[in-house]
Amino acid sequence: MQKTKIAPSLLAADFGNLQRDVELVNRSAADWHHIDIMDGVFVPNISYGMPVLKAISEHATKPLDVHLMIVDPDRYIETFADLGAHVLTVHYEACTHLHRTVQAIKAAGMQAGVALNPHTPVSLLADIIQDLDLVLIMSVNPGFGGQSFIANTYDKIKALKQMMLEKNANCLIEVDGGVNAKNAKALVAAGANVLVAGSFVFKSKDPMATIKSLKD
Ligand code: DX5
Ligand code: ZN
Repeated sequence: MQKTKIAPSLLAADFGNLQRDVELVNRSAADWHHIDIMDGVFVPNISYGMPVLKAISEHATKPLDVHLMIVDPDRYIETFADLGAHVLTVHYEACTHLHRTVQAIKAAGMQAGVALNPHTPVSLLADIIQDLDLVLIMSVNPGFGGQSFIANTYDKIKALKQMMLEKNANCLIEVDGGVNAKNAKALVAAGANVLVAGSFVFKSKDPMATIKSLKD
């Protein structure tokens, strides 16, 4: 079995020292850089946009895992491909024509991910799961770092695993929000392949060691 991927979320980095924190992730045991793009409409917060992502991509040496928390993501698919996104994840709740959006992401040369808010059941992905490279299960309500993990996430991961089995689908299961040393093991046991962690990594005394401990 493939080892669990760790994707530190730069939302919790020190923006005054962004290059330093990107380089820390480069040197760490992490697999991806998780980039949270928020528009203040889909979620009640604004994070950072393209110029900052461009600066990040100039220093990052690992794949960019871009999580769009924006309405109408179709408008920016080409832009994120040009900025070097490896995985582009859109929210189920933000896409009226999700199948079209997923095809456009793949046509632009990226892996396609779909994120589900805590209230959105995984069963809604039944007719598109075979087209996806990744499903991101939000374990907090999107918009902010540092929130508490929602325990129902375990059941959602298990339901998703079951659906993938029935549909003969093969995609990564990523969990995002409130991930820490207390829940990481159980998330992996439930079937998670990618763990996103923001505060737990960057607010810790030794982020490198924290990433390593999550990886192990
Ligand atoms: C929340 C973002 C997360 C966030 C996670 O909307 O999608 O990626 O950075 O932060 P923590 O790990 O602090 O919950
Ligand atoms: Zn995220």
